[in-house]
Amino acid sequence: MLQQESSHISKKAPLYESVADRILGMVDEGTFNPGDRVPSIRQLSQQFQVSINTVKMAYGFLEDRRVIESRPQSGYYVSARLTAIPREPKLDRRRLNPAEITSSDVVVQVMGDVMNNNLIQFGAAIPDPNMIPVSKLNRMLSTESRRFKEESAGYAMPPGSIRLRTQIARLMMRAGCTLSPEEIIITNGATEAVFLALRTLCKPGDTLIIGSPIYFNFLQLIQSLGIRVLEIPMSPVDGMNPDAVEAAIDKHKVQACMVISNFNNPLGNCMSDHAKQRLLAVLKKHNVPLIEDDINGDLSFSSQRPSVIKSFDTTGHSMLCSSFSKTLAPGYRLGWIAPGRYLNAVKRQKLVTNIASPTPTQLAIAEFLISGGYEHHLRSIRKVYGKKVAQMADAVAQYFPQGTRISRPDGGFTLWIELPGLSDSMALYNMAHQKGISIAPGHIFSTSDRFGNCIRLNAALWSESVRWAVEELGQMVYQLIK
Ligand SMILES: Cc1ncc(COP(=O)(O)O)c(C=O)c1O
Repeated sequence: MLQQESSHISKKAPLYESVADRILGMVDEGTFNPGDRVPSIRQLSQQFQVSINTVKMAYGFLEDRRVIESRPQSGYYVSARLTAIPREPKLDRRRLNPAEITSSDVVVQVMGDVMNNNLIQFGAAIPDPNMIPVSKLNRMLSTESRRFKEESAGYAMPPGSIRLRTQIARLMMRAGCTLSPEEIIITNGATEAVFLALRTLCKPGDTLIIGSPIYFNFLQLIQSLGIRVLEIPMSPVDGMNPDAVEAAIDKHKVQACMVISNFNNPLGNCMSDHAKQRLLAVLKKHNVPLIEDDINGDLSFSSQRPSVIKSFDTTGHSMLCSSFSKTLAPGYRLGWIAPGRYLNAVKRQKLVTNIASPTPTQLAIAEFLISGGYEHHLRSIRKVYGKKVAQMADAVAQYFPQGTRISRPDGGFTLWIELPGLSDSMALYNMAHQKGISIAPGHIFSTSDRFGNCIRLNAALWSESVRWAVEELGQMVYQLIK
């Protein structure tokens, strides 16, 4: 059986990003609070022993993300309006218990909103249609179907198109992985990748550890398989706390663990390499396999593509799931799974579930990757999404009541918002819907009632032309909490 070999080579962030990160840490830890002045460029250059230019770049980076703002003739200040979500959620070990999931009509409604052109799409996490390279993909669909005439109309039996799998294996090198194409199976999006992983590892009644809050459709998927979940509160900084995972495993029989490691949906944060390694070590120690979702991994706002937990896995203990839904085209329904030691079992599951994924789209995306356009495309969408997320967060801070807390994503395009005094985000969903705005209410991201005071907004479709919708939402929150 083929297995993932670890060849982790540490990647170095540009110096200015490390400087920005240190300042960000000081803001998050309260050394500098909203409205405080941060050291001048000259001071910081002396304090950190870096060049003036490096500090200028670091401050520019933080300004783009609305962490600090410059005031003419005065210096740089921590952005007064942005209140971040606390770094560490409180861990209550008594709450580490498995729970049943109930099926949610709201999830179906939020997903269904996507098809309603009359709504402002802040609900489902869909990419900006202007950021999808439609013409290029169409061209490639056509040329590749002609070039591989017979192949394009036949089954691409699991594991799927070798051209595409080869490209994915190369892409994953940037995330620290040395995968061979033989270790990858093409799926219908990341959803099917996760579905196949769950079907392989769990049976009805089993318990799965997940991070909480979690992308709501996964909860529904897990529910449909009769699996119970044990929710571990996700830290907006370090992600899944390995100590909490270990405490849960000590207390309950756990079949598998699932985590969205990079640019989490909904929190937007990215686990550090250290946190990734610690989580993997705990799971290995207790022989609990990991399902890792890295769908947003290519959408970093900084220059660095984060590693995947899989890159630290030398024993095939983890299954890596991802897709092109956020970066290229969700409608192509193309994803993949690298299932480690479970390769053959997952291949069988794929075959019995739907035989194969469509061939023409596999050929088109393979050609897109081969032609070298992907990196260039990623560079531009990462920049655009970084800006949109910052601008939308800024608008939320401007129009929502004081005390509103906003996540500070490192990548992806979702914003997680905690609203003071609101307990029923469903009421907000209904009000917003009537005004033509779709949002994702917090309670669908968990089996518990912990997130009734939260909403998730899709920032991918932010533009000045929908500022009014954020202002409207703010007004509705004022009304609901009065
Ligand atoms: C974290 C995460 N995983 C998976 C998916 C679904 O991906 P796909 O469309 O590739 O099935 C989404 C979609 O929003 C997501 O946010």
